[in-house]
Amino acid sequence: MADRPKVFVSRLIPDDGLRPILDACDARIWEGELPPGRDELLSAIEGCAGVLTLLTDRVDDEFLDRARPGLRVVSNFAVGFDNVDVPACTARGVAVGNTPGVLTETTADLAFALLMAVARRIAEGDRYVRAGRWKTWGPMLLLGPDVHGSTLGIVGFGRIGQSMARRARGFGMKVLYHDLARADASVEAEFDATYRPLEKLLPACDFVSLHVNLSDQTRGLMNAERLAWMRPTGILVNTSRGPVVDHTALFEALRDGRIAGAGLDVTDPEPIPADHSLLSLENCLVVPHIASASRPTRSKMAQMAAANLLAGVRGERLPTPVNPEVYERREPRPGAGSAGELG
Ligand code: GLV
Repeated sequence: MADRPKVFVSRLIPDDGLRPILDACDARIWEGELPPGRDELLSAIEGCAGVLTLLTDRVDDEFLDRARPGLRVVSNFAVGFDNVDVPACTARGVAVGNTPGVLTETTADLAFALLMAVARRIAEGDRYVRAGRWKTWGPMLLLGPDVHGSTLGIVGFGRIGQSMARRARGFGMKVLYHDLARADASVEAEFDATYRPLEKLLPACDFVSLHVNLSDQTRGLMNAERLAWMRPTGILVNTSRGPVVDHTALFEALRDGRIAGAGLDVTDPEPIPADHSLLSLENCLVVPHIASASRPTRSKMAQMAAANLLAGVRGERLPTPVNPEVYERREPRPGAGSAGELG
């Protein structure tokens, strides 16, 4: 049908999101296991009113120039949106959506799983068994620290960081947190969490879990200097974005025993090459960016990303816009809903 908006969906997503898009749009879905190459992406988005992107798709001036002038919405299938140049979208009147909230608990589950797995040497133990090295019960075999009763430092005390604090409380852990701004006293009380500047938090913690957005302020946050502030027994967990940690500094700290372990869901680059130095270390556990990868959560993300895409192509306000300021500068368009609907 001629009036169905043209959209591009840059990977297969769960059916709960795909179906409404296919029902309402002239949709092209990229079905490859790997993302479209840059040229394929740029050619696929030409003339689209909406694009459903993944964090592997870079949305920048070049992307926006190729898609315009009809592009109304970029709906990112992720809570993070560091792959999208949001100011460039806003300047062109393109709404950007993300999927906050629905993946909070699932992501915290994985962060806590990494924390426990590194502490209790689960991956190492599995490798040990599979290699046929398990000969007897050993009083000194694969010893690690206790998780219960230890101190957790949460860097980035947003939704996911706070969910991490709730899990930690169940393990009788003491929780310290750091963020750009100190949380309200009521929030600190709710999560039984105490604010510390980073230079005081890092030396005080057995575990440090990162939950910040990637930005100019957080890129390289865990560099050699800050890793050195951690305890030699300390374990670092990263489920935020790879570039928040300087990987060369992390490798050196882990190799030299200046920190005890790391659990990474995110790396820099992604995917991390199989011959990367970090993967040569027994005390570094790496999983392939799967923090939100539960079936129910990915379904909810798909529904949310679809809802943002469909609202965007209809000229309606996105349910979860990243750049609500885009509505302040848009002229109401005939047939695109009232100015009120656009915010
Ligand atoms: C995944 O990393 C996300 O941002 O949703």
